[in-house]
Parts: sequence; structure tokens; C-alpha cells
Amino acid sequence: MRTGIIETYRQYLPDFADPAAPIVSLCEGNTPLIAAPRLAPLLGLPKNFRLFIKFEGMNPTGSFKDRGMTAAVSLAKRKGMQVVMCASTGNTSAAAAAYASRAEMKTVVILPRGEVALGKLSQALIHGAKVLAIGGNFDDALTLVREICAEYPIELVNSVNPVRIEGQKTAAFEIVDALGDAPDFHALPVGNAGNITAYWRGYREFADAGKATRRPRMLGFQAAGSAPLVLGYPIEKPDTIATAIRIGKPASWTQAIAARDDSQGLIHSVTDAQILDAYALVARTEGVFAEPACAAPLAGIRKLAEADYFAPFADREYTVTATLTGHGLKDPDRAVKTVTSGIVEVDGERGAILREIGF
Ligand code: F0G
Repeated sequence: MRTGIIETYRQYLPDFADPAAPIVSLCEGNTPLIAAPRLAPLLGLPKNFRLFIKFEGMNPTGSFKDRGMTAAVSLAKRKGMQVVMCASTGNTSAAAAAYASRAEMKTVVILPRGEVALGKLSQALIHGAKVLAIGGNFDDALTLVREICAEYPIELVNSVNPVRIEGQKTAAFEIVDALGDAPDFHALPVGNAGNITAYWRGYREFADAGKATRRPRMLGFQAAGSAPLVLGYPIEKPDTIATAIRIGKPASWTQAIAARDDSQGLIHSVTDAQILDAYALVARTEGVFAEPACAAPLAGIRKLAEADYFAPFADREYTVTATLTGHGLKDPDRAVKTVTSGIVEVDGERGAILREIGF
């Protein structure tokens, strides 16, 4: 039975050591780790590499944010807060609104106007959040949220809230539990850089606890037009079709660089065209529909494979996991725009249909 990440991993979550303290959960986590044997060679991975997709789109609000939000909203409720607030490219707002509703709390979300996928917006609205769309980008929204939450009794539930990272580290625990050890490489998209921070912490903690014999190299991928961590300086006007990771000043900058360096990994960028290719490819070959930002790590694996990055690892079988952070239904417009074959209008009779499908 699904119990939610706090119940499952309580002994590794010091904020929730007391089992009597109430938690706000939607039974998040326990998401599938899906083998991707058709996709792996198409990305150029060598034969001794196994690829797995951690599909976080299977969380209750359709993204990995639920892991952090169960933790953040549970603590906010315990503290007696009545309002939560976040800046968001969409997924955080959807999760905040859902969990806060369940906790009988109010939600205020600040979004970059016109830059949030419809599915995510619909979630925030239906859960009753106050949705404020500003002219600036995500970074501007987060600055405002930080200022306001510092002065008023409003709980900030972006990943600068440390308990968000605590919740999100449980995804790494689940991967170790599923594989019986840590993977050799872990690839994921990087925006505000909370999630790469969380995974690295999770892997380190499970290695320290003796649950894994190794720690993976962390492979982070940003979109080329929004790649401050790759370039080494903040971007004033980040730009990419992967709106979820259109972020120019990641809040967890230092931690992301530490995850990269301590794990002997890397943070690279991929173009929008590479992202869209990988987005369609994983849907067609493995049946996994994830939102565009999630394809960044897959595009990144392909780019690394083309550069022979994996070639030196030839002595045994290696495992790569890639987190697909959010569900494709969050952004259906993008899917429809990406598929050029489109819909065929046909007369509603047998002959016409059979002709069209070549029988
Ligand atoms: N993937 C998706 C689908 C996201 O929504 C986000 C971030 C990321 C990856 C990047 O994760 O920020 O921890 O590096 N979305 C945030 C939001 C910014 O507001 O929903 P990160």
C-alpha cells in the first residue's frame, strides 16, 4: 500500500521523527523505475549500460514536487501557519495548492505571466490558489516571495525551504531500494537546482547508512538558453521551450556545484531542438509521456554518448537512471505542436479508414 514518503522513510527524515505528529500526504512517492531497453541504444549508450527512467510524473499532482511539498506543508501546518506561498514555473504551484487545500490552508502563487503550461495552471486554479501572474520571470517572482515571506506570517514553500530538499531526497532512496544499490550515473534536469541537491543528499545518506555500496555521478542538464550553472554566471533573460526549467538564477547554485564536483559528475546544456527530439523519442519508444523539461537528461545522455563520455566504462555492466520529473499531460499543447503528422480527417466508413491505414 502507498503510504507517502514521510511514513516510508521517517527514520531518515529528522523533522518527522515523532510518528504522532500529523502529516499532510497524498500518498506521494513510490513512483515506478521503468527499464528503458529500447531507448538506451537509441541514445547511443554502450551495450553494457542499462537505462532506467524514474517517472516522477506518477506522483499525485504529476511531478516530483509532491515529495517536497508533503514535507513543507506538514511542517507549516505544525507551526500553525495559515498561508503558504511560492514562486513557480508551474509544478511547485500545483503541488503547493493541492497539499495546502488538504491541510485547510490558503495558497498564493506568483507565476511568470504567459510562461506556465496550461495543465499546471489549471491545477493551481482548481485547488483554489490565489494565482498572481507577474510581468517578470521565475527569478523575479522568487525574489518577491522571499521578501514577502520574510516579513509576513506566510510559509515559503519553494525549495529554499530546507525541508523541501529533505522530502525530495526520498526519490534517491527509492531508486536504491528498487535496484538494490545506487546507479553508476544519475541524470536529471536542473532549474532552480533543488532537485539535484536533494538527490545527491539522498544518495550520500543511503551510502552512509550502508544501503548502497556506491554513489552515482550526478549528470545535470540545463536548457541552452537557461544554463547559468554551465556558463558560470546568472542569466537575466532565460529562454527555452522547457518552461519548467526557464530559470536564470538558481537558488541552490552552490549545492548544485557541490553535487556535481563531489560526485565527479557534470552539468551540461542541451538545445531546445535536442530536448524536443528526446521528448518525442521516449514517448514513442518506451511509452513514457513526460513534459519537455524532463527530456533534458535524455538529450544530455545522448550528447554525452556522442562525445564518447561513457566509453571508458567498459569493464562491467553500468546502470544509468534518469529522472523524468513531470507528466506530459501538464503541457499537452507542446505535444500536439511537436507531432507534425497531426490528425487525419476521414469519412466515418470502413473503406476510407482501411485505405488510410494501408489495409
Ligand atoms: N523538472 C520539472 C518538471 C520542474 O518543474 C522543475 C522545476 C525542474 C525539473 C527543475 O527542478 O528547480 O529543483 O532544479 N520546477 C520549479 C517549479 C521551478 O516552480 O515548478 P529544480
